[in-house]
Amino acid sequence: PKVFYTQPDGAVKVIDGAVGDSVMSTAVKNGVRGIVGQCGGTLSCATCHVYVERAELGYFAGPTEDEDDMLECTAADRADNSRMSCQLTLADGVDLHVTVPDEQV
Ligand code: FES
Repeated sequence: PKVFYTQPDGAVKVIDGAVGDSVMSTAVKNGVRGIVGQCGGTLSCATCHVYVERAELGYFAGPTEDEDDMLECTAADRADNSRMSCQLTLADGVDLHVTVPDEQV
């Protein structure tokens, strides 16, 4: 599946990801700017914040309570489509579009 990462300046990087990887690990492996993933996906850093294309939010179960807590700690303002990208798993045949916030730490 492809993940389209849009930077705050509008630049888009398209990565061909692997099923089962997260949107965070796919970004980190491929050097996508602005997604840090400091805690490695254990919901304790809030540096993997992304805005998910609204039409694609339904591909995922809603945030757990732990993710919800982390979403309150993001550097950039939380929006209704904010998610921690370490919690978003790539699925077969499902392309995703996320926007990277202008601040991550
Ligand atoms: Fe730390 Fe997602 S990588 S909360």
